[in-house]
Amino acid sequence: MCGIVGYTGTRQAYPVILKGLKRLEYRGYDSSGVALLKEGKLKVYKKKGKVAELEEEMIGKEIEATIGIGHTRWATHGEPSDRNAHPHSSASGKLAMIHNGIIENYAQIKQELLNKGYTFTSDTDTEVLLNFIEDIKKNNDCSLEEALRIALKRVSGAYCILLIEQDNPDTIIAARKGSPLVIGIGKGEHFLASDASPIIEYTKEVVYVNDYELAIVRPDELILKNIGNEKITPYITKLDMELAAIEKGGYDHFMIKEIFEQPSTIYDCLRGRLDAKESIIKMSGIDQNIDQIMNANRIMIVACGTSWHAGLVAEYIIEELCRIPVEVEYASEFRYRNPIVNKGDVIIAISQSGETADTLVALEKAKENGAFIFGVVNAVGSSIARISNAGAYTHAGPEIGVASTKAFTGQLAVLMMMALAIAKQKGTVSKERYDHLLLELEQIPEKAEAILKNAKELKKIAEKYKNASDFLFLGRGYNFPVALEGALKLKEISYIHAEGYPAAEMKHGPIALVDDQLPVVFIATNDPYHEKIVSNMQEIKARKGKIISIITEGDTVCPGLSDDYFSIPLVDELIAPILTVIPLQLLSYYVGTAKGIDVDKPRNLAKSVTVE
Ligand code: M6R
Repeated sequence: MCGIVGYTGTRQAYPVILKGLKRLEYRGYDSSGVALLKEGKLKVYKKKGKVAELEEEMIGKEIEATIGIGHTRWATHGEPSDRNAHPHSSASGKLAMIHNGIIENYAQIKQELLNKGYTFTSDTDTEVLLNFIEDIKKNNDCSLEEALRIALKRVSGAYCILLIEQDNPDTIIAARKGSPLVIGIGKGEHFLASDASPIIEYTKEVVYVNDYELAIVRPDELILKNIGNEKITPYITKLDMELAAIEKGGYDHFMIKEIFEQPSTIYDCLRGRLDAKESIIKMSGIDQNIDQIMNANRIMIVACGTSWHAGLVAEYIIEELCRIPVEVEYASEFRYRNPIVNKGDVIIAISQSGETADTLVALEKAKENGAFIFGVVNAVGSSIARISNAGAYTHAGPEIGVASTKAFTGQLAVLMMMALAIAKQKGTVSKERYDHLLLELEQIPEKAEAILKNAKELKKIAEKYKNASDFLFLGRGYNFPVALEGALKLKEISYIHAEGYPAAEMKHGPIALVDDQLPVVFIATNDPYHEKIVSNMQEIKARKGKIISIITEGDTVCPGLSDDYFSIPLVDELIAPILTVIPLQLLSYYVGTAKGIDVDKPRNLAKSVTVE
């Protein structure tokens, strides 16, 4: 939530910051702004709307500077507007600051400042924190760094902040707690950003800043300190990412690029881990902790949104194959509801970004209680990856479209491999079934490719139903979570109200919605419930609902019951969700684009939810 960029060096800062903001726009896009510092003059420009509107606004403005900070916002405190956009300037006009996160006790601090005669030009918690820092600096006659340190000790909440000061011509001061910060190390220059995407074009050497750390960044110097003012040696990592991975590469949107990348991202996820011929799964995170995981009394899965749906699929699979009880929790509920977590409990955390605030805090809480955390994360080096005791990356590459697609199928592939590896060790799966499932998993990239070849069929279906006001998604068994995911995808990027349900549950309420205007999407692939789902289709047909079905090639029953259908290759029911979700991703994409929606940046959403 919110993207931040900073630069100090010898290049022109504005083009670096602007490009960086465009790359980070997935994190929030209701307003944006930059602050540039040249020869003791601090200039702040900001604009409501997407980064392109800021760019337009900047034409003809003074942009020369070799140090600057930039921000793209997802509103928390205060509506999206020019005045609430970041950077904020302090009362004296000498400081400028950008912030990603929430200052929870801002109201109290604001009142103290109001009592001292401060006035505010925005509704944001950021402006409050900035003036608080300036007030401390003035009263203590101390450096900005010292004032920041004192202020942060009073502050509760989450933040990643970048500060520049008029009287300090080449220095950016940064601090982080709960919101990510990466610093890129160049030759005589440094880059700061919420993730590595604005940095990789210039350098692959980065430092991930940890919670409660402050960075003093100059062109030739990076000083890292903890909040107690002790120096820390920066740990430099090499980025394993190419620029092409964060560009559209000829596609209209990141979302469709990412959907089409799935055959290769799933392949990358399986590569080096699964060998069906040799009948092995090698996952170091599992292999090294097998006793802990295998002997868990229960496994809890903690996640949000699409990642939570992957968790539901995993619950079905782990219980089936490993015979270990599994509970799946929304991280936002788990963190507040005083759950029973004991030493030795295994928590699987699933997250694309690895920065989701609710998931992160839930894990901190579980870890305090002695739980073992296994992270299934996409973003390498992210906070959740680092807080986990062990884990497995999904290797889907950067996911930029707000709607999660390739990360979901990557999560499923990892979770399926994990379940198979544990089941084999535990002896709860027969050799025959194990070998069969390995083979099925190995064939997934090829089958995903076959589905994508027919994407145009879904475009036609989308055109037909794009004006519907509601959709229902129904599935049974392993495909029930896929129905939830299909509904979430459609809501997110087409603004059509959609609900996902277990197909049989439909009779207990949602059937009242069915009329001749309601499209009902059935995931009705070949599995042991096929006859049951056919009965559910009959029930919808009898009430004149419009049926769109995702079926297995060669199905002779469902086409006759469906208004429209899309076939996928035959696949084992346990593995099916990795494939059945792809047509639903495509359907949403085509409905969203047919309605003229910017599917990569749908309204009100942000890719990485780093606030509660
Ligand atoms: O980065 P995470 O996987 O932790 O994010 C969780 C959700 O915010 C995310 O899946 C969200 O629901 C997506 N926009 C869904 O497409």
